Amino acid sequence: MVEHATIYTPAAQDDSISFSPASYVTAGLSDQAQMSGTPGTHIVIRGLMKRFQNNRIYDGFDLDLPRGKIVSIFGPNGCGKSTLINMIAGILPRDGGEILADGKRIADIKIGYVFQNYREALFPWLRSVDNIAYPLRLAGVHPAERKRRIDKLVAAFDLKFDLHSYPYDLSGGQQQTVSIMRALVTEPEVLFLDEPFSALDYEMTLIMRDQLQHVLAATGTTSLLVSHDLEEAIYLADKLLLLTRRPTRVAAFLNVPIARPRMPETTTDPAFIALKSEALSIFQAAVRGL
Ligand SMILES: Nc1ncnc2c1ncn2[C@@H]1O[C@H](COP(=O)(O)OP(=O)(O)OP(=O)(O)O)[C@@H](O)[C@H]1O
Ligand SMILES: [Mg+2]
Repeated sequence: MVEHATIYTPAAQDDSISFSPASYVTAGLSDQAQMSGTPGTHIVIRGLMKRFQNNRIYDGFDLDLPRGKIVSIFGPNGCGKSTLINMIAGILPRDGGEILADGKRIADIKIGYVFQNYREALFPWLRSVDNIAYPLRLAGVHPAERKRRIDKLVAAFDLKFDLHSYPYDLSGGQQQTVSIMRALVTEPEVLFLDEPFSALDYEMTLIMRDQLQHVLAATGTTSLLVSHDLEEAIYLADKLLLLTRRPTRVAAFLNVPIARPRMPETTTDPAFIALKSEALSIFQAAVRGL
């Protein structure tokens, strides 16, 4: 086991947050404490329930997601990774449980979402710059402010293509960059990315990982990234969430104490390799249902 890694134990964590030394603490207050999570928590998930027909996906799932960090989610096929982030994002209804960000409903905060399928995510009739500006236009943001926000993102992404191009004139990686810029332009509190690079070739994936790492570190946006590539999941993450088979539980929630910026060479660093091998054994045990 890697020295810095911590195994997430919802039971232990619940004990620590529901501790109330004074007997006069009301049930309401202690509920509130339950829903604020451990220090540094941004999003609290308690008692999450979800089923599709007779298929129980989540059955009393608890998790605290840290503020301003990148959490990568990795787990067996079909375990419910997309279902989880879609419920947190409020795109998919849940059957029970609570999800709060700083005590607020997710519907009341600004979020960004990057879909796997960038081809269907962008409006083909709008130039890239207008795709990015679209959420701001919808929110009635003044054109000067729209331009300021986009210029800031252009600088952060170090763009090598013309934003006046239409999506179909761009490569897959460039289109996904536009999608990510569109998700970030509203300066969301939380960014969701569901396998954002899985439709890209390997070379483009490496470039995109670095761009994303750089931009998210600069903005400090709380981010949840689903990846089916363990190396990528670790490379980008501050914390790695490993899930079990259904009904899905947290197999482990590991810290990724590897210095940034991470570079392709980082993947051959002994600390990286040790963490990857630890994660792999947890994953294999989770797949076997241990
Ligand atoms: N709308 C739906 N109706 C019925 N079943 C669904 C629906 N959406 C997802 N499922 C099922 O729920 C389970 C979890 O799906 P989900 O897409 O969240 O998994 P995932 O971990 O993201 O999978 P993958 O690794 O394939 O992306 C799967 O068995 C899937 O078939
Ligand atoms: Mg999925």
